[in-house]
Amino acid sequence: MNKKNIVIKEVGPRDGLQNEKEIISTGQKIQWIDLLSNTGLNYIEITSFVPPKWIPQLSDALEVAKGIKKKEGITYAALVPNLRGLESALEADMDEISLFMSASESHNLKNINKSINDTFPVLKDVAVSSIKAGKTVRAYVSTVFGCPYDGEVSIDKVRDICEQLFQYGVTEISLGDTIGVADPAKVEIVLGELSKHFNKSRIALHFHDTRGMALANILRAVDMGFTTFDSALGGLGGCPYAPGASGNVATDDLVHMLEKMGYHTGINEDLLQTAAVFIQNRIRKSLRSHQMAIYNTVK
Ligand code: HMG
Ligand code: MG
Repeated sequence: MNKKNIVIKEVGPRDGLQNEKEIISTGQKIQWIDLLSNTGLNYIEITSFVPPKWIPQLSDALEVAKGIKKKEGITYAALVPNLRGLESALEADMDEISLFMSASESHNLKNINKSINDTFPVLKDVAVSSIKAGKTVRAYVSTVFGCPYDGEVSIDKVRDICEQLFQYGVTEISLGDTIGVADPAKVEIVLGELSKHFNKSRIALHFHDTRGMALANILRAVDMGFTTFDSALGGLGGCPYAPGASGNVATDDLVHMLEKMGYHTGINEDLLQTAAVFIQNRIRKSLRSHQMAIYNTVK
């Protein structure tokens, strides 16, 4: 069987570092992103242009974005919540702007301080202005598989939100399992329903690995024809406004599994490990990926 290319979008510098207690200096973030740029990844989400009061860990977003050595062929993206954030993201010359909101009312309110209805016009303005400025726009929909506050989330609600966001000119939507409550059977139900409405090539999946099911969820999605996945090196990650969220699926574990199975990611595992060791030393705790557990045991 001819195995496909799988696109892996590295979100560690944003989703990973937004949740770390250890303060990583601006220089170290830049060095880490430069190491990631050498691994063969073609997409790196490097930071968020949000108020420092909300995410102090990423308060140096502009300096980081201006400091990295951008490599041809890599899309460098950042989270942007509003027009104020877009101003900085444009000054930083980001390639892609990532919008974000939730499919559940309570998480949306806790995370971005607005109701879902009040969020739409803000995101529309950001999308329209980004496109006018020549940028592509991606959007996250969080809590698709369950919310830490509201519990079950309806697939119809997710579909309605995606429809709205696509209307704003968003090229891809990343469906977030923000607190890691999905399982392969649920993935099949949710993606089966959504693929009746949207092209699979325009949907990415963003699994957190709280209950150890992220790789299984990804395999189910791959078997269903989805080809784009977000992950964070070493399994870093989490949302400070979603209690119970642990790290993203680990890029190193994901690449290892897919390459072993004959899929092509274009990512070099040795260079990935070099980047993982670098950030592990900076955050001063063991990364939680299986690949790094092996490295930490045998080194
Ligand atoms: P707010 O406090 O309601 O904003 O925050 P505001 O408009 O009332 O402004 C308050 C102050 O912040 C003002 O300053 C603004 O100028 C300033 P003041 O007049 O008081 O001096 N301000 C800004 N400063 C810098 N950059 C900006 C900006 N905007 C306003 N962009 C807001 C509303 C949406 C901004 C806030 O709630 C926010 O940024 N939330 C984001 C929290 C966050 O980053 N969460 C984690 C990322 S999402 C995630 O992890 C999930 C994901 O991984 C997918 C998944 O796993 O499901 C993506
Ligand atoms: Mg996340």
